[in-house]
This record gives sequence, C-alpha cells and structure tokens, in this order.
Amino acid sequence: MSDKRFKTDTILTKLGRDPDDYHGLMNPPIVQASTIQYKDLETYETKKGQKFTYGNISNPLSDHFETAMAELEGGFKAVSSSTGLAPITASLMAFLNSGDHLLMCDSIYPPTRIACDKLLGRFGVEVEYYDPCIGAGIKDLIKDNTAVIYLESPGSATFEVQDVPAITKIAKDADVITIMDNTWASGLLFKPVAHGVNISVCAATKYIGGHADVNLGYAVADTQEHYKRLKDTHIDLGHCPGSLDLSLALRGLRTMKMRLQHQAASALKIARWLEGRPEVQKVYHVALESHPTHDIWKRDFTGANGLMSILLNNYPKERVSAFIDALELFPIGSSWGGYMSLLQPQIEINWRKANKWNEAGQLLRLQIGLEDPDDLIADLEQAFAKLG
Ligand SMILES: Cc1ncc(COP(=O)(O)O)c(C=O)c1O
Repeated sequence: MSDKRFKTDTILTKLGRDPDDYHGLMNPPIVQASTIQYKDLETYETKKGQKFTYGNISNPLSDHFETAMAELEGGFKAVSSSTGLAPITASLMAFLNSGDHLLMCDSIYPPTRIACDKLLGRFGVEVEYYDPCIGAGIKDLIKDNTAVIYLESPGSATFEVQDVPAITKIAKDADVITIMDNTWASGLLFKPVAHGVNISVCAATKYIGGHADVNLGYAVADTQEHYKRLKDTHIDLGHCPGSLDLSLALRGLRTMKMRLQHQAASALKIARWLEGRPEVQKVYHVALESHPTHDIWKRDFTGANGLMSILLNNYPKERVSAFIDALELFPIGSSWGGYMSLLQPQIEINWRKANKWNEAGQLLRLQIGLEDPDDLIADLEQAFAKLG
C-alpha cells in the first residue's frame, strides 16, 4: 500500500511494485505460471500458508496489478481478466440470477449491450434500458426483482455523465447492487466506490495500457463480500489476464496521468475549434460548456480525457467517406486511449432504446492522441474541404 502522505503523481510511481520482493528490481518481472507446487499434502488440502494455488487464479504479477488498481480506485480488492469486456460480463453474472431485472444505462459500450441482450437474455435476465440522465428518477424503474443497476459514465459515443451519487443512494436504499464501467476515467479521474458504487469495472486496454497493444480489464469491489462473489465468478468463468499485458499495464500506469492531461488539453482545444466549424452540427465533449451534462462532470470528475464525438451535417455518404479517407492523422480504428489519434463512425448509436437517436448526419468519435493539436486541426481542416 502506498503512503497516504503522497499525492496522485507520486502514488502512480509507487503502485503495484515492491523491489524488496525481487532483489531490488524496480519493476515486478513477467511471471509465466500455470502449475504451482505444494510442499506437502497438508498444505495441498488446507491451502494454509499457500498464497498462490494455480496460475490462472492468481500469481505474483496479477497480484501486483490488482493491488495497484484497488488502491487507485479506492476499493477493497480487484480481479483482472484478459479483456475489458470480460470483467463486465463476469460482474453482471456474479450479481444476477435467472428471473432478475437489470437496469442498464442506454449509453453503454455496444458489446456490453450485445452481451446483455443475447447472453444474459438466454439465462432469463430481464434487461431494461434507462436514460443515462435519469438521476434520482431511477427510483421509479426499480421493481421487486431488480438486482443490479449498471452505469457507464460518461457513456459511450455521446458521453452523458450520470448523477452517480443520486443513483447509488437510491440503489442502496432499495438493496440493489451497482456496477459501473469506469473506463473513461481509467481509475484516475473518478472514484466510483467513493460515490457509492459497489463494483467499478475498467478496460485497462485503453488509457492504462496507453499504447494500443494491451488487452486487459479489471473490476474492483467495495467490500470483502462483493469481492468474493466477483472472484468466485471469475474463477468459474476461467478468466485470467496475460502476463505481458499485466506488465505493460503496470508500466502504462506510471505515465497515464501525464498522457491524459496532454490528451485532454489537446481534445478541448480541438473541440472548441470544431464547435466553430460550419460542417459540424454538434460536438460532444464533456469539458465543453455546451455539453448537456458538463455541470455534473465538473462536480464529480477531476479531469477529462481525449475522447469526443462530432455530428456532421447531413452530407451524402460518399462525401463523408471522402472526408474520412482524406484524414492522414486519424486512421479508422476501434478502441481508444492509445498515443495516436483515431476516428470511429458511431453506427451503434441507432441501437439506443430509452433515448432513440433521431439526429440526421453522421456521428463520428475522435480519440485525440499525443500528436501536436495544431497538426490534428490542420489535418481535419484539409479533410473538411472534401465535404464540399
Ligand atoms: C467503455 C468501454 N468499456 C469496455 C470496453 C472493453 O474493452 P476491451 O476492448 O478491452 O474488451 C471498451 C472498449 O472499447 C469501452 O470503450
């Protein structure tokens, strides 16, 4: 555990490592482990004094990463898995039973929606989507069989910031578990557990890895009881993180705050410039005063990241294609949080149920990387000329 005297920048240099464990090595080495040997039959039977029992249940490196993330998030303990999606579905399966009602935020990451509709649906979970801006109004949607309220804040594509304290207060009064996707804040810019969330889930694939080469996720529980349920489900599902990914994520943690600050500053500069462009109807970025939930973001978050979306005017498809293909510094790509800028058309926005998407025009998500923002603006400007 790092020292409470220290501020975040210092804590990020100390989390999840202990040179005394490894002959002074600054960073924990990559651990490749499946079989772990026991010293005698009694130890095998009782597990007494045996910290690690099987490689995919935990090992020294996953332990370092999980300790780091539980501490950064301010939770009790963490589990980790080989993708960001894995702890999302595992957390849902840990706290839902057949016949339960799940309240799902309508602005969730699309694969989470697919998992809810298809996988959980097959296991008899009733999924109801709610308006991410519902706040305390969630109370009216809670039924006798509501077991989980799932949040993602800010949401995907349009970045609605949820009133997390209002929702968790109502959930606690109704004895309903709350799970929140905290990937946008990556454990740093928002602390779900401190705001009453039971399980905070995050794709370390994004800002924590930070270099577009890691697949990793974790979930942090607020209490021992919730952690046990989460860990048991992870074991049942056979989830296990890859060692190289864990090592790269621990490395990424050290520079994450600086990268995020740079990316957020560039994103805000670009977002303000985009707001003044005639080709753009709307810019969705939480740090813009025009964003509908800007005030909640300001109240609850300590910073922004490099994500935004733009709604273009209603141009014909071939003009939009010409614009996208003319961009040199924004390749099309899923995912985000890496060092380079990306663009992704937000096709799944049409899947929304609680807030039907009725806007004409193409919605595009931009991930702003570590390039110079003036170069990115110049690139967007030359490509806008293709819209005519
Ligand atoms: C908000 C959010 N949560 C979770 C994930 C899942 O992460 P992974 O790609 O590592 O499964 C993503 C991926 O894009 C995401 O955007």
